[in-house]
Amino acid sequence: MKPFIHLNSAMTVDGKIATEKSSMKISGKNDAIRVHQLRKKYDGIMVGINTVIVDNPKLTIHKIPSKIEENPVRIIIDSNARTPLNSKVLNNNAKTIIVVSNNAPQDKIEQLEKHCEIIKTGDKRVDLKDAMEKLYNKGIKSILLEGGSTLNFSMFQEQLIDKLTICIGSEILGGKKSKTLVDGRGFKKDNCVNLKLESINKIDEDVLLEYSVVY
Ligand SMILES: NC(=O)c1ccc[n+]([C@@H]2O[C@H](COP(=O)([O-])OP(=O)(O)OC[C@H]3O[C@@H](n4cnc5c(N)ncnc54)[C@H](OP(=O)(O)O)[C@@H]3O)[C@@H](O)[C@H]2O)c1
Repeated sequence: MKPFIHLNSAMTVDGKIATEKSSMKISGKNDAIRVHQLRKKYDGIMVGINTVIVDNPKLTIHKIPSKIEENPVRIIIDSNARTPLNSKVLNNNAKTIIVVSNNAPQDKIEQLEKHCEIIKTGDKRVDLKDAMEKLYNKGIKSILLEGGSTLNFSMFQEQLIDKLTICIGSEILGGKKSKTLVDGRGFKKDNCVNLKLESINKIDEDVLLEYSVVY
């Protein structure tokens, strides 16, 4: 069994979610509030290690009134236990689980274990299918996936994503090296992920698209 997984992201009109090396504000204030309302509904919030390194996000509910106990479990996919010890995701405002591979250095694991729980799976890279099963068995039945591009690709590749919401901000970023919603190797044209459009809504100057994923 695996958790229900919902990918939520903000992207520019040309499909970018960040510049090559840094994050950027893409959607407006009311979309940020929507994301924090969404976080309240999920057991876990998950990101890839590069998002932690580049953005140093809190991954808590802090843009709407909320109690600390309502924060979902923060889940970081980090094969080599590279999560910096001073990351905000290791503060006491929510529980954190870091998923590492069997290749992660033991000394790094021991340092991180002082601040969070560690799950080990996969030889060199995190085995995402097995990780989702292990998280489900720990009571995490639903996860809000919040990127970045590389993890989004692998999660689609493993057919683990059930639902997608994309907030399109009114910007164009361009740039070959800017991050897109889904990077990685890409799919062959006959093998791309098919989506079913469920709703379209306007939030101020942004457009919110909701899809279910058809495998
Ligand atoms: N606009 C938005 O909504 C939004 C949301 C989130 C992030 N972002 C942006 O996205 C950017 C980061 O994206 P990113 O693509 O560089 O990195 P990422 O997806 O955050 O993290 C990718 C890393 O996760 C690790 N990983 C471990 N196992 C994996 C697996 N099975 N499949 C895939 N990845 C695995 C890999 O590093 P190891 O091999 O070291 O484990 C991989 O390089 C940042 O600039 C951030 O600002 C934007």
